[in-house]
Amino acid sequence: FPSDSMATNITFHPGTVTYEERSQLLNQQGVTIWLTGLSASGKSTIATALEQHLLHLKKSAYRLDGDNIRFGLNKDLGFSPKDREENIRRISEVSLLFASSTSITITSFISPYKADRDFARELHAKHNPPLPFVEVFVDASIEECEKRDPKGLYARARAGELTGLTGVDAPYEPPEDPE
Ligand code: ADX
Repeated sequence: FPSDSMATNITFHPGTVTYEERSQLLNQQGVTIWLTGLSASGKSTIATALEQHLLHLKKSAYRLDGDNIRFGLNKDLGFSPKDREENIRRISEVSLLFASSTSITITSFISPYKADRDFARELHAKHNPPLPFVEVFVDASIEECEKRDPKGLYARARAGELTGLTGVDAPYEPPEDPE
């Protein structure tokens, strides 16, 4: 089990139930649906509606949301490029855990950097068996997002009260070939 972990003297302890057996027993297949786009593009709205719909079909679906995760697991991270990278690295791993438990995992993070989203995709591809990773570009223009501005963040950025807002003075790298 290759690892670049900081820890030494660790041994991977496999379970007795394989992914395939778990999937058969629960009659469900894991997948990560990865929503990316600007703030106010509609990621969380789509994610909550999709989660509700799937649950009503009796599917195990679970949502990981950027704002929400920053209240807990990722409360030690801000919005510097390094922190965003770490934010997405952790969510890549968490979404893999959920998907490998056969949940339909829906993530809604700006995830502005292509390399970080590609890392998430790679993790899913490396799983045994590979787990599907569906990248969805919630493609609302900066003009539209700024018009909506439900949290007033764009107004604050334009007023000079907030720096490093994605799409204003921080980059967003759109997916080139999203599912
Ligand atoms: S990401 O860039 O690291 O993927 P994430 O999705 O977790 O971002 O968090 C984005 C949310 O944080 C936005 O919806 C917005 O409410 C809030 N936010 C606060 N400051 C910023 C900022 N400088 N840039 C982007 N989003 C911000």
